[in-house]
Amino acid sequence: LDDLLGEGVRGRYVLVRADLNVPLDGETITDDGRVRAALPTIEKLTSAGARVVLTAHLGRPEGAPDARYSLAPVARRLGELLGSEVALAEDVVGASAHRVVGGLADGGVAVLQNVRFDPRETSKDGAERGQLADALVELVGESAAFVSDGFGVVHRKQASVYDVATRLPAYAGGLVLSEVDVLRTLTGDPNRPYVVVLGGSKVSDKLGVINALLPKVDQLVIGGGMAYTFLAAMGNSVGDSLLQQDQIATTKQLLDEHGDKLVLPVDVVVADRFAADANTQVVPADAIPQGWQGLDIGPRTVERYAGILGSASTVFWNGPAGVFEFPAFAEGTRGVARAIADSSAFSVVGGGDSAAAVRTLGLDERSFSHISTGGGASLEFLEGKDLPGVAVLEGRA
Ligand code: 3PG
Repeated sequence: LDDLLGEGVRGRYVLVRADLNVPLDGETITDDGRVRAALPTIEKLTSAGARVVLTAHLGRPEGAPDARYSLAPVARRLGELLGSEVALAEDVVGASAHRVVGGLADGGVAVLQNVRFDPRETSKDGAERGQLADALVELVGESAAFVSDGFGVVHRKQASVYDVATRLPAYAGGLVLSEVDVLRTLTGDPNRPYVVVLGGSKVSDKLGVINALLPKVDQLVIGGGMAYTFLAAMGNSVGDSLLQQDQIATTKQLLDEHGDKLVLPVDVVVADRFAADANTQVVPADAIPQGWQGLDIGPRTVERYAGILGSASTVFWNGPAGVFEFPAFAEGTRGVARAIADSSAFSVVGGGDSAAAVRTLGLDERSFSHISTGGGASLEFLEGKDLPGVAVLEGRA
């Protein structure tokens, strides 16, 4: 981005891919962290007089306009935060987009409608994606520049992330740069003890990162729904808890090979149904009664995890420890987050739900060294995978 600013951008169109994929309750944004994270790059460009055209996705619409996934609430919030008008095009590269982009003044900002309303964005066919990338280039003109600042999507080989970067002079935005810098310290030689806390519902989604991390970490602490597959693999009955039966053998092998590093809950909060007002009780993790399901880690587990985190020098945390959206099952996630916030370790919160949890559970974001905007992207980075949206920038550079 600094290179681009050094070239001078007054009056030049700059297409910025941001990750503005925020959680919504109807039309209300419940966590605007990703919108705020996009501001510094946008503000640097507008102060330098660029005409900023933002492209982004929201949710996973099926390649067609769908009002539930409109970027309208995001454009409104962006306008409030920037303190200036942000125009929203009603389409991605159609007549409305051309009108809105054509009407941009120097230092102005426009948002294109959800890029995933166009099926070519996520197509596996490079030629199809290329057509959308060409249409984006046509929209902003061939003298435009592209800034990739949506770290949360750099693991996606999609038209607005990857293909467009092969067609316009392409630059990394400040957010992408800082995220990559921080995550590289974790894949490099982090200070020890290096502790990773992983939560989330499915063990199958995390197997790649678990396998990649186990040789590198000192302890891998497990929470969330996936803990029950681990507990079942140890031979415990888990009642009605979430269980991936088909992952038990793999999970058992992980425990056999790395049991010394894997840390599992010793007690859990169980509920008689999946509801905010369910009846609850705390039970030992090896004695979950039939008819009950584990929805959070218990207080003894929180204490144990807090002890491990308190003596860590480097911490990475991804995935809530329980169903924190329901207050009755938020204490585990709050306890883990607080222990990380209180520790003097270099701490990285890996995006998505965990970042939202930090903010919605009322913790101070400044107590963490870095809160990543990328969920899947940060995990794939730690797993050592090539991220197409980063690789394409490195190739261009
Ligand atoms: C995210 O929420 O992790 C990013 O916005 C990417 O979204 P996706 O998983 O739908 O590609």
